[in-house]
Amino acid sequence: MSAERIDGKKISQDIKDEVKVEVAELNARGIYPCLAVVLVGDDPASHVYVRNKIKACEYTGIKSVSINLPADTEENELLERVQELNADPSVHGILVQLPLPPQIDEDKVINAIDPDKDVDGFSPISVGRLSIGLPGFKSCTPAGIIELIRRSGVSIDGKNCVIVGRSNIVGKPMAMLLLRENGTVTVCHSHTKNLREITRQADILVAAIGKPEFFTACDIKDGAVVIDVGMDRDENGKLCGDVDFESASQKASYITPVPGGVGPMTIAMLMKNCVEAATR
Ligand code: GUN
Repeated sequence: MSAERIDGKKISQDIKDEVKVEVAELNARGIYPCLAVVLVGDDPASHVYVRNKIKACEYTGIKSVSINLPADTEENELLERVQELNADPSVHGILVQLPLPPQIDEDKVINAIDPDKDVDGFSPISVGRLSIGLPGFKSCTPAGIIELIRRSGVSIDGKNCVIVGRSNIVGKPMAMLLLRENGTVTVCHSHTKNLREITRQADILVAAIGKPEFFTACDIKDGAVVIDVGMDRDENGKLCGDVDFESASQKASYITPVPGGVGPMTIAMLMKNCVEAATR
């Protein structure tokens, strides 16, 4: 058996094209969705991420406001900028790129963002809303994974879903979203015993462990859907995922590649959240 490759590049493009149509419809009603992107300091990776987010705004027709602050910005100054954006009715979504410099408490900043503008879905209010099934913004990477599964025609209902990793950005919200789709959810982490025995039971495996090609065919159930959230480097420094794609493809029914799987979905879902913020 050879798995079908889930094309995240194509699916994310489809979503951005759908968003583009929705933005044009909002514009016709006099609503101009606008995302404010706040970047503090000069972390090169963050600059690349932010540039890609702004490019996606341009593509979909979402207005963007860039706020670049120096690395020595004080916490209070950043909190004030967030409050200004909260109060600005022309701004629908606010994104503060992480990580922040060490003098700034990230939790405090995330908490300061108006939950109705929290398009990253990181604030405790957004996380709480998601957990009890209220409408709110979903964290973009896990929300993108749900779209990848859904658009591949796979039902989550009643499936045995195993997530490896319990971060606030991926593992935990992933568990809530799969539960909302009526999956039976297991979350594994660094203290989990017999990890590979558990992954072998998974109908849907979400690997977010951060170890290059950690999972191979023998860790995967026949016919499983394998979602690889890893962004790792192999021994030659080449980008790879948490799953050995060639090996796992022999057992899986569907599998996401790295790159071109989960990665492109995050920004597409951010665009979707911006439209939702403007629609409300
Ligand atoms: N840093 C790495 N990924 C993200 C993300 O999705 N959102 C924000 N705000 N910062 C990040």
